[in-house]
Amino acid sequence: MKQRRAKILAVESYLPKKILTNDDMAVMVDTSDDWIVSRVGIKQRHIAAEGEFTSTMGVRAAQKILDKTGIDPASIDMVIVTTLSPDYLFPSTACLIQSELGLTNAAAFDLQAACSGLVYGLATAKAFIESGQASNILLIASEKLSAFVDYTDRNTCILFGDGASAVLVTEGSGIFTIGEFVLGADGTCRDLLCLPGGGARNPASHETVDQKKHFIKMEGREVFKHAVRRMEEAMEACLKKAGLESGDISYLVPHQANLRIIEALRKRFQISPERVIVTVDLYANTSASSIGIALEHLMHNHPLALHDKVLLAVFGSGFTFGSMVLEVTGEVK
Ligand code: COA
Repeated sequence: MKQRRAKILAVESYLPKKILTNDDMAVMVDTSDDWIVSRVGIKQRHIAAEGEFTSTMGVRAAQKILDKTGIDPASIDMVIVTTLSPDYLFPSTACLIQSELGLTNAAAFDLQAACSGLVYGLATAKAFIESGQASNILLIASEKLSAFVDYTDRNTCILFGDGASAVLVTEGSGIFTIGEFVLGADGTCRDLLCLPGGGARNPASHETVDQKKHFIKMEGREVFKHAVRRMEEAMEACLKKAGLESGDISYLVPHQANLRIIEALRKRFQISPERVIVTVDLYANTSASSIGIALEHLMHNHPLALHDKVLLAVFGSGFTFGSMVLEVTGEVK
């Protein structure tokens, strides 16, 4: 029997209209365009409007996929949403999106792997498809990080933006075939990047609000070091598993958190700048959705030839990390 292979049929994204530039940030906290550009490489970030949420942005990205591919919504058998900023603790954002899009034949669940979510999600989708348990999976990464950012904390507020991306994973033909991957985690570092309040450990109270426990907390310098090391290790392990050298990679699509992290990876693997996808300047860190947004950017702005290999690399709170090879097996439409 022919082996089932998971393919990516389409990738789309949605960015909210409102833009906060670095100069806008400098009005809110003691910072400057110079500092942000030189230390992080971010020039601006998109911010959700009032009435826009993780689910509604996810719906916008997913709707583009349904419109563009013309796939019968009844044939979608699974919706996976990866996010660290769900509309509610429960029900899942996947259930909200499933009902909004009328995907009545789809199972739906959220997958939380922070900024690594899309690669964890692609790996999950691949497993369901290749084991014959699903045929058409809508994987959505959406983040309304602005709901959890403390806009008085210059250490964190400059870093994050809102946005969504969506990927249709199928067993038929597709632009990319999902190849080898590695996933990893290190929960001992959980306190270096977290949102301490609002869960069962610190339920909302006057005290948790006064202590600003409902905002993102981060030890930036420590996170930076772990991010570079963990992504490096994951990329190396993934290349080895796939039997590839870094010279075989046509494009690197890394998590978009800080241009200096991306540069460190680029130099370590001796990849030329035009083969590394950078969107952090325009959208900042949109957590789980950043890889999808960057992948869509690659598809529309760079030439892709049959059998080109694209390497994804991710890192996020947890810590979580991973890397994955995509092979071009179809035409970008
Ligand atoms: N504007 C101006 N100055 C700022 C600033 C800002 N927005 N944020 C911090 N600073 C200051 C600090 O207060 C510090 O001042 P001090 O030396 O007087 O104490 C100085 O800049 C250096 O701070 P430091 O934290 O060492 O800067 P850095 O070069 O490490 O850059 C980050 C900070 C957050 C940009 C960087 O550490 C980073 O990108 N970390 C990883 C973030 C990440 O990847 N997160 C998500 C992972 S999924």
